[in-house]
Amino acid sequence: MTDQELVELAFTMLERSYVPYSHFPVGAALECADGTIFTGCNVENAAFGSTICAERTALVKAVSEGHRDDFTRLAVVGNSTEPCWPCGACRQMLYEFAPELTLLVARKDHSFVKLTLGELMPHGFGPKGMD
Ligand code: THU
Repeated sequence: MTDQELVELAFTMLERSYVPYSHFPVGAALECADGTIFTGCNVENAAFGSTICAERTALVKAVSEGHRDDFTRLAVVGNSTEPCWPCGACRQMLYEFAPELTLLVARKDHSFVKLTLGELMPHGFGPKGMD
């Protein structure tokens, strides 16, 4: 699958987003080394702090299905002019499992920025930090 195809898959998730409060749908598609892809969308809650982001939805789907150390690429998309950068909580949760993860962070025009999670959060705290 090309980078653009993974981005387009993430865009299909916007219609699944549950966003009655922010009206800002976000979609994600997380790829594993064997080609398996876990998609996600943001799911909001009347108790705002209980909202889960699209990236973490995809991640917990993957981990709960037995994937842990084989993540390769993650596409994150939103209806924003700027790239839909992952929030701090999502960066931290992703760092736990895939500090070298490649990110494809898209704008509403479907163009995207490609970079690594390590570039987004240098000197991140993860499992190795507890050795
Ligand atoms: N959101 C995500 O899904 N991912 C991010 O990394 C940034 C924020 C969602 C959460 C909330 O539903 C909406 O975007 C506005 O913050």
